[in-house]
Amino acid sequence: MPDTTPRTRLDQTPEWHALAKNREELGGTTLRQLFAEDPERGTRYTVEIGDLLIDYSKNLVTDETLRLLRDLAAATGVTELRDAMFRGEHINTTEDRAVLHTALRAPHAQHIEVDGADVVEGVHHVLTRMCAFAERVRRGEWRGATGKPIDTVVNIGIGGSDLGPAMAYEALLPYTDRELGFHFVSNVDGADLHETLRAIDPATTLFIIASKTFTTVETMTNAAAARRWLLEGLGAGPEAVEKHFVALSTNGEEVAGFGINTDNMFEFWDWVGGRYSFDSAIGLSLAIAIGPERFREMLAGFRLVDEHFRTEPAESNAPLIMGLLGVWYGGFYDAQALAVLPYSHYLAKFPAYLQQLDMESNGKSVDREGHVVSWQTGPVVWGTSGTNGQHAYYQLLHQGTKFIPADLIGFARPVEELGPLVAQNDLLLANMFAQSQALAFGRTPEEVRAEGVPEKLVAHRTFPGDRPSTTILGTELTPSVLGQLIALYEHKVFVQGAIWNINSFDQWGVELGKALAKRLEPALTGGAELAGLDSSTQALVRRYRELNGR
Ligand code: F6P
Repeated sequence: MPDTTPRTRLDQTPEWHALAKNREELGGTTLRQLFAEDPERGTRYTVEIGDLLIDYSKNLVTDETLRLLRDLAAATGVTELRDAMFRGEHINTTEDRAVLHTALRAPHAQHIEVDGADVVEGVHHVLTRMCAFAERVRRGEWRGATGKPIDTVVNIGIGGSDLGPAMAYEALLPYTDRELGFHFVSNVDGADLHETLRAIDPATTLFIIASKTFTTVETMTNAAAARRWLLEGLGAGPEAVEKHFVALSTNGEEVAGFGINTDNMFEFWDWVGGRYSFDSAIGLSLAIAIGPERFREMLAGFRLVDEHFRTEPAESNAPLIMGLLGVWYGGFYDAQALAVLPYSHYLAKFPAYLQQLDMESNGKSVDREGHVVSWQTGPVVWGTSGTNGQHAYYQLLHQGTKFIPADLIGFARPVEELGPLVAQNDLLLANMFAQSQALAFGRTPEEVRAEGVPEKLVAHRTFPGDRPSTTILGTELTPSVLGQLIALYEHKVFVQGAIWNINSFDQWGVELGKALAKRLEPALTGGAELAGLDSSTQALVRRYRELNGR
């Protein structure tokens, strides 16, 4: 059982006080000074895991800060909680569940128990079924109700049942079978499904209904609409459903109730959180797109980082270091946000994926014992692909009043498929490196003057610098490297939750809105009274009804 002894409040620990003192001592020490004092800083403050080099030298920390942060991690039991997670203990205490996404990529020979039963066998059983199914679709052997092979796959899911597959499909496009079309429908706004359905043929379409619970209203509404569209389009009866629908879920009963043959259900388990589920059956669309071999390569990438996180000493443990930097900025610089800036077109959806991973995990304000915290927890995670951002919002990053640490992510080698366009990678990466320089070192008024800038413009053209960033430089965006990158962030989020003493694995904060929407829907359709609603909601609903002639 995980240790549930109440902890000393984080901000009352000696380690926290020591960090506060260190922050005071650092005062306005600049990155220029820190780099000048230590010519080795740019190589010393790096760590390598697999195919990723993580350069954290442009962060506002000294050796002493890092040592004190590691002390904080030790004092708050990060290692113990990590080991309890890997062992399958119920560290998700509010839902009384194990947290074992790491078992999804464990080798077949490993034995991991949840509540006394091994789970790895089941993981590999489902993985084998997924791979076989993916091959059948890819080879044109899985046929629709009219006998035609599948050429279009539509994943219907939301949150963790959408963001991971959609992001990874785009990230690994060069590895996908380009003969097959893939679509990801998540929004309950009918426009999402409409825009997908209008371009595809029911006879050759496979719908993957991805939902851990199989009760999520957005997904079930879209799935039911897709089923109607399919049966109408084919002029077929319900028996056609099993040729065109498969399910990814933990809930066999609901899957069967929907009319999907449970032989065509790919299972996962309640110890896999939605936002950590992408390398479970939820990855089926990706397995079809890139094929089983590549999918397994990606799992190996995840596993490599799991092992690093589990065994690497604190001084060179990449997820730990990244997690600690976030704790430092939240706790002692009052940072509210983290910008994630991929310098890779293929990673355009990565910030959105990380938003759920990080914000649904660590967007909490009570600790594990239910007390309101008095320290910053998870940041607002945002970002878009780097070069586009440069021409949109980087102005604020460089000269605005907000303090926003950033992660910049790029790859040394572009994918070969780009042909002559690979040459553009030099320019792309030059931009990434240049931005981290500009953020860190800025441009002083003296430098601006030395360039002959008129005095009245000097202040405008000065860059304060000391805007911290971490650069993640990968070799190439392969399936394995994508797995490494995702696992790096999963464990970073874990470290922060452990230190902040919050449960990173529940998400009660999404429940209220869901319940209210369910209650309000009849009011919008005109079938329920408005009495009892607040005056703002009443007026909005009344206007909505009027505009719809109800
Ligand atoms: O947003 C809440 C949430 O429960 C997420 O955690 C989850 O990924 C998403 O909804 C979808 O849930 P399901 O896979 O059960 O449809």
